[in-house]
Amino acid sequence: MTEVTKNDFTEEGKIVRKIRSFVRREGRLTKGQEGAITECWSNMGIDFVEQMLDWNEVFGNNNPVVLEIGFGMGASLVEMAQNSPEKNFLGIEVHRPGVGACLAAAKEAGVTNLRVMCHDAVEVFESMIPDSSVSTLQLFFPDPWHKARHHKRRIVKAEFAEMIRPKLIEGGIFHMATDWENYSEHMIEVMNAAPGYENIATDGDFIPRPDERPLTKFEARGHRLGHGVWDIKFRRNA
Ligand SMILES: C[S@@+](CC[C@H](N)C(=O)[O-])C[C@H]1O[C@@H](n2cnc3c(N)ncnc32)[C@H](O)[C@@H]1O
Repeated sequence: MTEVTKNDFTEEGKIVRKIRSFVRREGRLTKGQEGAITECWSNMGIDFVEQMLDWNEVFGNNNPVVLEIGFGMGASLVEMAQNSPEKNFLGIEVHRPGVGACLAAAKEAGVTNLRVMCHDAVEVFESMIPDSSVSTLQLFFPDPWHKARHHKRRIVKAEFAEMIRPKLIEGGIFHMATDWENYSEHMIEVMNAAPGYENIATDGDFIPRPDERPLTKFEARGHRLGHGVWDIKFRRNA
């Protein structure tokens, strides 16, 4: 596995600090997570390289591609891959223990339509995702960066919306979900202002949780406590 981020340099060779949507908090991997990476990486892991992926080569077929950014421990991603064998799934997560947990779950479930990367998804998009090739992009419960002075770290922003649009097929969907109301409003604001998208909601800005997005334990607990979850789908229309 390669490094999770790469640095940019000025012409004089100085490192340029990028504003990222995450902080490195590696933590220890359990034996199971480490073992799953060692065992499964050659079949299911994709290393970061500055070269566009060829989906047919990656998955061995031309099924629609669903990409998920920040899958956490991967439980819902593995479940979705299991439920939709007619689609291909690529999960991108910077947190190595999460990648290990996802691979362990994928192995246990026996899914063959799932690949994972351990790298900054923004860099993966810029360097490896071909134009007009992604049918759905999923971003579930991204770090909300609560404090106003940290809002610049939120992954959903104008440049991000602009960068991912050409990667989606025409009619492709960007599906977001958050349990933080202020972030849901921010998502709507950014996406409404971004050219080339339309909100698919017919009643207000939000949609009910679609069946394809599994309910997580964390979310079920939130429901019981009366917390809200906002699902948002924007379609590429130009
Ligand atoms: C709040 S967690 C949510 C995890 C999972 N989607 C869930 O619902 O349980 C957000 C995750 O996004 C990951 N993340 C944040 N920015 C990322 C980026 N630029 N590329 C890849 N993963 C990222 C973090 O490491 C973290 O695991």
